Amino acid sequence: MSTAPPPLAPDLNDGLRRLKMAAMRRIAPELLVTAKTQRWSPEEFLRTLVEAEIAARDESNARTRMRTAAFPVTKRLADFDVAASSIPTATFDYLASLEWIRAKENVCLIGPAGTGKSHMLVALGVAAVEAGHRVRYFTAAELVETLYRALADNSVGRVIEALLRNDLIVIDELGFAPLDDTGTQLLFRFIAAAYERRSLGIGSHWPFESWGKFLPEHTTAVSLLDRLLHHCQTVVTNGDSYRMKQARTRGDTASKKK
Ligand SMILES: Nc1ncnc2c1ncn2[C@@H]1O[C@H](COP(=O)(O)OP(=O)(O)O)[C@@H](O)[C@H]1O
Ligand SMILES: [Mg+2]
Repeated sequence: MSTAPPPLAPDLNDGLRRLKMAAMRRIAPELLVTAKTQRWSPEEFLRTLVEAEIAARDESNARTRMRTAAFPVTKRLADFDVAASSIPTATFDYLASLEWIRAKENVCLIGPAGTGKSHMLVALGVAAVEAGHRVRYFTAAELVETLYRALADNSVGRVIEALLRNDLIVIDELGFAPLDDTGTQLLFRFIAAAYERRSLGIGSHWPFESWGKFLPEHTTAVSLLDRLLHHCQTVVTNGDSYRMKQARTRGDTASKKK
C-alpha cells in the first residue's frame, strides 16, 4: 500500500551526511510524510529524529565495545544456573548489579576447572558492556605477553594507561602457567596501577595461599595480593565440574536411547 516517500531535499541530505547523522538521514523522508499526514507538532518531529539518532549511536557504540572487549565466547548471566553452582544467590545478585564496577572493586573467582569461573567473568563483562562500561578480557598469559611486548619497546607505562581506560579488565586463567620474575613484576605493575582506579575480574584455580606457585617472587606476590584483595569480592566456586556433569547427563541420555 505504501508508496516510497519523496527523497529528502539534496541540501538536507548532504547536510545530514556531512554531520554523520546516518539514522536521521535514513528515516527523515518517511518521517516527513508521517508528520505531515498526522499533523505532528514541529517539536514532536524533531524529537523523533533526535531519538532515532541517539538510539542508533548507542547501539553502534555497544557493538564496538563488545568487539573490543575480545570475549572468547558469549556467555550470559541469565544462562548461569545459580542453584547448580556454589555461588550464593546474594553474591550472584550483587555481582550482577555491577555496583562493584562503579565502586572500582575487584572480583576474584577461585575454584577448580569447570565450575563456571570463565562463564561468570564473561557474562559479567557482557552485562557491563550492555550497561555502557568499557571492558577488556584477557587470559593472564595474553595480558603478560602484551606487557612483555611493551617492555621490548619501552612502552609499558603507556600500554597500561591505555588498558586502564577500560572500566573492567578481566584476567582469566591466572596461574595456568607459572610466570617468571619479569612477568610477575609486569603483572604487579598492572595490578598496582589499576588499584582503586578500575575493576579487575580475576579467575584462577589456585587459592590465594598457593599463588606463590606461579608468582615466584615472594615479595612481589605479597604486594600484588595486598592491592588486589583490598577492595575485592572473593567468590569460591567449587563442586563438580559443570562440563563433567553435562557430559555425564549426555552419556545417560545416550545410554537410555540404546
Ligand atoms: N552454574 C552454571 N550454569 C550454567 N552453565 C555453567 C555453570 N557452570 C559452568 N557452566 C558451563 O560449563 C562450562 C565450563 O564452565 P567455565 O566457566 O568455562 O569453567 P571454569 O572457567 O571454571 O573452568 C561452560 O560451558 C559454562 O557455560
Ligand atoms: Mg575458565
